[in-house]
Amino acid sequence: MSKETVLVSGGAGYIGTHTAVALVEAGYDVVIIDNFSNSEASAIEGVEKILGRKVAFEQVDTCDTEALRKVFEKYDFNTVIHFAAYKAVGESMAEPLKYYANNLVSFMNIVSMMKEYGRPNILFSSSATVYGDAESLPVTEQTPRQPATSPYGNTKQIAEDILRDCCRAYEGLYGIALRYFNPIGAHPSALIGELPRGVPNNLIPFVTQTAAGIRECLSVFGNDYDTPDGTCLRDYIDVNDLAKAHVAAVARMTGHKMDASYEIFNVGTGRPVSVLELLTRFEAVNDLKLPYKIVGRRPGDVPAVWADTALANEVLGWKAERSLDDTLRSAWAWEKHIRNL
Ligand code: UD1
Repeated sequence: MSKETVLVSGGAGYIGTHTAVALVEAGYDVVIIDNFSNSEASAIEGVEKILGRKVAFEQVDTCDTEALRKVFEKYDFNTVIHFAAYKAVGESMAEPLKYYANNLVSFMNIVSMMKEYGRPNILFSSSATVYGDAESLPVTEQTPRQPATSPYGNTKQIAEDILRDCCRAYEGLYGIALRYFNPIGAHPSALIGELPRGVPNNLIPFVTQTAAGIRECLSVFGNDYDTPDGTCLRDYIDVNDLAKAHVAAVARMTGHKMDASYEIFNVGTGRPVSVLELLTRFEAVNDLKLPYKIVGRRPGDVPAVWADTALANEVLGWKAERSLDDTLRSAWAWEKHIRNL
């Protein structure tokens, strides 16, 4: 029997590369498409080095309908994982149209082409950002979403709704939305990892760049929250564990095991970690000192959010496994690799 093939849009990105590796290791074939708008060709080389083989790759913008059509004509796949999207919250506030156009047009292109070509399964990259400042913690998939506070967050909510409606309306279309918490770390080989352009917005890339001397000092955004040490609580999930959650979700779809045509899963560890706790662990496991200062709160940050992971644990048979220490070691190993330190 030939292998199941999975189309991975945005497969040169941070989560896409790790997921492509995990899929191939689990016995799937992958076709990666990416327009390199926020990634590099070297990411594909990293994937191929880890796997010891070439992977099918096409430089395609998912907003380009005709280019996308050629991919659907050329390759035989039943499942698409759609990562391709912009993801910077601040930029989305300054340039909302850029976010709505890119994130929603690319998503609708994919879904409409799947419908046209009769490709049944789509996995969508959603985010814990949909929960906003949640009513109760930890959040389950039933916890009500809050109105989005950024165009970026809104594109995640709208795309979830589009997917729900399409799976309801079009027979034979199945969708899963994975709501990621805070993905961090890198592959244990240090051959793939996060490659932010410019000044990083997210905590860990800023931490590793500060440790590497590229940034002078890390700013901790607020220590006056109503949390044990006053800094925000998040659910930091190892990117390799997150990749395996995709494999489990793909297996559920290709194995015809879904209970409904559209399902949602939280993908986190279930463990809240504060900013200061994360910094302290990072320093300890990597044996270094990190210059940091406490500054004011960052607008839009929620005090705390972490996942109830029971549904993913039980239904997907998936669980986050890597320790925070190992993940923080891998993040630093990756930064050293790309800086030749
Ligand atoms: C952010 C986005 C979220 C998006 C996710 C993608 C915001 C408000 N939220 O999540 O919508 O889905 O990235 O990865 O931007 N921190 C510092 N100093 C820094 C950077 C961060 O103290 O230099 C703190 C933040 O205040 C927060 C924690 O570290 O408490 C994590 O921040 P970050 O990595 O940006 O993730 P989120 O804000 O949770």
